[in-house]
Amino acid sequence: MLKEFLKQKKFSVVKKLLRSVGESNFLGVDIGTASIKAAELEASPLTGAPRLNNYAILESYSHLDRLNTAIQTSSLKMLEKETAELLRAMLKKLGSKTKNAVASIPSFLAFTSLVEVPALSPQELAQTMRYQAQVIVPLPLSEVAIDWIPVGEYTDEKGVKKQQVFLVSVPNEVVLKYRSVFKAAGLNLKALEIEGLSLARALTFGDPTSTLLVDIGARSTAIMVAENGLLKYNAQTDFAGSSLTQAVASGLGVSVRRAEELKKQKGLLGQGGEYGLSTLMMPFLDVILSEVKRAKNIYEENYHGKIERVMLSGGGANLLGIEKYASSELQLPVVKADPWKKVEFPAAAAPILAEIGAPLAVAIGLGIRQFIS
Ligand SMILES: Nc1ncnc2c1ncn2[C@@H]1O[C@H](COP(=O)(O)OP(=O)(O)OP(=O)(O)O)[C@@H](O)[C@H]1O
Ligand SMILES: [Mg+2]
Repeated sequence: MLKEFLKQKKFSVVKKLLRSVGESNFLGVDIGTASIKAAELEASPLTGAPRLNNYAILESYSHLDRLNTAIQTSSLKMLEKETAELLRAMLKKLGSKTKNAVASIPSFLAFTSLVEVPALSPQELAQTMRYQAQVIVPLPLSEVAIDWIPVGEYTDEKGVKKQQVFLVSVPNEVVLKYRSVFKAAGLNLKALEIEGLSLARALTFGDPTSTLLVDIGARSTAIMVAENGLLKYNAQTDFAGSSLTQAVASGLGVSVRRAEELKKQKGLLGQGGEYGLSTLMMPFLDVILSEVKRAKNIYEENYHGKIERVMLSGGGANLLGIEKYASSELQLPVVKADPWKKVEFPAAAAPILAEIGAPLAVAIGLGIRQFIS
């Protein structure tokens, strides 16, 4: 069925969607495993800069109770009907001015690679990238949409100029699923990109500091390297916020919901009797941080770059005390993601910006896409 659909030239539609062009007012939509987040951005009437018009975070607590009620899982099983309903409910609340949406695909649904090639003509580069995709993507090329973005260059030991090109490929099945969910929710899906691209744009545009972005979600942690708004490396681990909650629940013998509350209230800073909380979470946080170290080493050894700092995003970045702990473990400066540097916002949002910035970073990166790319 899918193959037939693709044969009828829908494949080119899929490809186009990954590259699409923008209009002026957009809704960035990030469908995570535990929540859907949206940010509506418009051009500021005074400066023309992106301005947050409205945002929404719809958390689904059901994922805490049962695995199969997560909005989407790493095995490609986004629950289409439920997700469309959640999206529609969210739109109603948001009272959005636009139906135009840009959405992100989680890292774990894409295949990416940083490819280093000599200076090539656009035709030669296209050929090389197609060949590379054949090597790295575990699916036939007829079943994936591929795209590539030049992200840097360097001169090697022999004085030869090399360019670095970031290759992204997404299964057509995933793209088609997103299209149908957005259609069912009454939205026009104008573009799709992997979430790392949105984060790189929101958090590093105009900043050449080589940055490890660590997005700690509920079900997975994405570990990326970005600079100047460009994504250069993308890895992922299944240890994330839920792992910490589970550790607290089983360690203290409390319900997962209670454990979630305690984690959010005390984080790593609990004193006295609560000290046990951080002791329970630490081994899992250490697994996440060892994956971060691994990604750093792989990147530095293979791709001619040196990581200068770490930026934490996703809901997990709000864990109290995480920056200090991560900084001492990683021996690098660690800061919480602040997407507000690029975006104007209504004064009423000011008091909560620090808290919502890290979880909303992907949605904001999507919403500012038409202002920047
Ligand atoms: N204040 C807080 N302290 C600690 N953890 C927090 C806090 N706020 C949210 N979290 C955790 O962040 C996680 C949710 O993060 P986020 O909203 O980025 O996930 P998601 O995007 O839905 O998931 P994923 O990216 O894995 O698909 C949950 O595990 C939640 O417990
Ligand atoms: Mg997420």
